[in-house]
Amino acid sequence: MSVRVIVGGQWGDEGKGKVIDSLSEGMDVVVRPQGGANAGHTVIFEDKKIVLHLIPSGILHDGVLNIIGNGVVLEPENILSEIAEVNKYRKITNNLAISDACHIVMPYHKRLDKLNETLKGNDKIGTTGRGIGPCYSDKIARNGIRMSDLIDPVRFRKRLEAVLPFVNRLLVDIFNQTPEDVDSIIEYMSPLAQQLKPFVCDTVSLIHKNLAAGKNFLCEGAQGTFLDIDFGTYPYVTSSNCFSGGISTGSGVPPTAIKEVCGITKAYITRVGEGPFPTELFDEDGKQLAKVGHEFGATTGRPRRCGWFDAVLGLYSTRINGLTEIALTKLDVLSGFKVVKICVAYQYQGKRYDVFPNSLEILENLTPIYEELPGWTEDITGVRKFEDLPLNAQKYIKRLEELIQVPAKIISVAPDRTAIITR
Ligand code: GDP
Ligand code: IMO
Ligand code: MG
Repeated sequence: MSVRVIVGGQWGDEGKGKVIDSLSEGMDVVVRPQGGANAGHTVIFEDKKIVLHLIPSGILHDGVLNIIGNGVVLEPENILSEIAEVNKYRKITNNLAISDACHIVMPYHKRLDKLNETLKGNDKIGTTGRGIGPCYSDKIARNGIRMSDLIDPVRFRKRLEAVLPFVNRLLVDIFNQTPEDVDSIIEYMSPLAQQLKPFVCDTVSLIHKNLAAGKNFLCEGAQGTFLDIDFGTYPYVTSSNCFSGGISTGSGVPPTAIKEVCGITKAYITRVGEGPFPTELFDEDGKQLAKVGHEFGATTGRPRRCGWFDAVLGLYSTRINGLTEIALTKLDVLSGFKVVKICVAYQYQGKRYDVFPNSLEILENLTPIYEELPGWTEDITGVRKFEDLPLNAQKYIKRLEELIQVPAKIISVAPDRTAIITR
């Protein structure tokens, strides 16, 4: 048995989908533990680009069981349309299981997500508008609706009658909006629930049956370490634990079963939405990263903000995730830069910071301290061996490894699943 965890090491969109799809060959189980349709994981299948939001990225391989764990928040219409999309490429049969403990993203969660953002005005988070924050808020406040409620018509009505008074106080009294009503929600959601029912089960038992049988697992974290509700750039974060600690709470895979933790780490860095970004670039270099890297959000299509690699963030990610390796992605995007820069520390009010600070005041006002390395011009998208990379690219990787104290065992040099160097 082996359990390898994959987490985003930065602010999401590091290339998790691609790496998981590449590593799924020969895997038995891929588990998605948290997040919702805010995620967009791109896989290239037979030259076609498929963006998965909820279904684990092992779905396009034969013989892989894909499990949506209890920590995921799930909008029924969303997951059903994703199942229909994947069916065009590979028929989903008994290779997809959805936890009966998943919380359901209700239509009012999406309304509230947008209303919250509007009320926040200039302080908005820049959410994906998928209802993620309000759904997780209800989960924590114990006002959520779980999959096991949704698929049982009697329970569903009972649960809705219990929670809607709270929702409607918010909608009507705070936001001056029309209320929700139990019957309309039931009318809309019941047919969806029946379509989902065949996929729903006790995924904890399923996971443990497979662990006991010695199966090989990949766990697919969504978002990234610095969007984590506890360790990210709060409040500019998502509403789940997207560092490695969220794997166990979101799936029931026990921490002691986890042997390898791989941080998916872009060779530079990007961020979508609002919030501090120490190495963000507003110059031609930033434009080049965005253009060559096609840096547009896979879920919302928003342009991603781009910047140089931040090793302060990187080292923090190594530590809190317990990384045993990183997969360094999109190295090809750096080809053509005369100089590549790495942020090695921060400076704020004359003081040097080597450790990622929690204070938003520091994060928003610091100056990055950069180390400069010579770049390379070669197209590296066809390279499959570390030794065949340009010497300066090898030096860049080795310096990153030194700074963030973890080996880059995987290097990705193009979007497709075969464009990978393993060391
Ligand atoms: P995720 O959310 O971490 O799965 O990442 P996204 O799918 O949102 O964004 C990553 C983007 O980079 C996608 O468009 C991928 O197809 C693309 N990609 C992944 N790895 C590489 C790589 O090594 N090189 C290049 N050029 N693109 C890559
Ligand atoms: P993947 O899994 C990048 C960001 C949003 C916003 C913040 C909160 O594809 O890497 P939310 O809708 O979650 O309440 O938004 O988090 N965000 C992501 N950014 N990649 C993601 O997922 C993201 N999921 C959420 O842009 O800044
Ligand atoms: Mg993404």
